[in-house]
Amino acid sequence: MHDVAPGKPQRLFFAIWPGASGRAAIASLACEVARAAGGRATTADKIHLTLAFLGEQPADRIPALHHLGGGIKAPAFVLTLDEIGSFRRTGITWLGASAPQSGLAALHAELGLALQTAGFPVDERPYAPHLTLARRSKTSIRRRLPEPVIWPVDAFTLVASDLGTGGPTYRTMAEWRLGAG
Ligand code: 2AM
Repeated sequence: MHDVAPGKPQRLFFAIWPGASGRAAIASLACEVARAAGGRATTADKIHLTLAFLGEQPADRIPALHHLGGGIKAPAFVLTLDEIGSFRRTGITWLGASAPQSGLAALHAELGLALQTAGFPVDERPYAPHLTLARRSKTSIRRRLPEPVIWPVDAFTLVASDLGTGGPTYRTMAEWRLGAG
């Protein structure tokens, strides 16, 4: 955590972060796929799944994000991630789900509506939930995991991404619990 000059625009996104055991399992998967497909494995502390990427936002819009995050009523859910694939154009190797994940879809939809209502940019493309395992991969891979990663999700966060020469560093700005369902 470090201080940021007041008033500076920030690159922001909403995301979910796995707990310690999920993080360790996914980090070892990341090393494995980086060996198979090339590229740089995501380190354990950076493993997350993005709900909404907001890009650079002026500092005076940040209170509205805190407000809308606090108003989200979606229930907690369990994610089942069982598929590895690639975005060939960007060299990303990802972990995702072969089946629709209704709890994640509900959270994404509620957040998207709240963002839109508050005048924030919303990606018009269909949501492609994925967790980046490796960047700058050389080859594409696609396979099912013999054992899916089961991830109980009970919170989501607003995160600032600071771009540096060694890759981005992430700062959690706020975290909200999801409902008990
Ligand atoms: P990625 O892992 O596929 O790059 C912070 O950059 C987070 O926001 C990452 O999870 C990133 O996904 C995601 N993201 C979504 N759209 C993005 C965009 N247009 N530019 C940068 N990051 C984006």
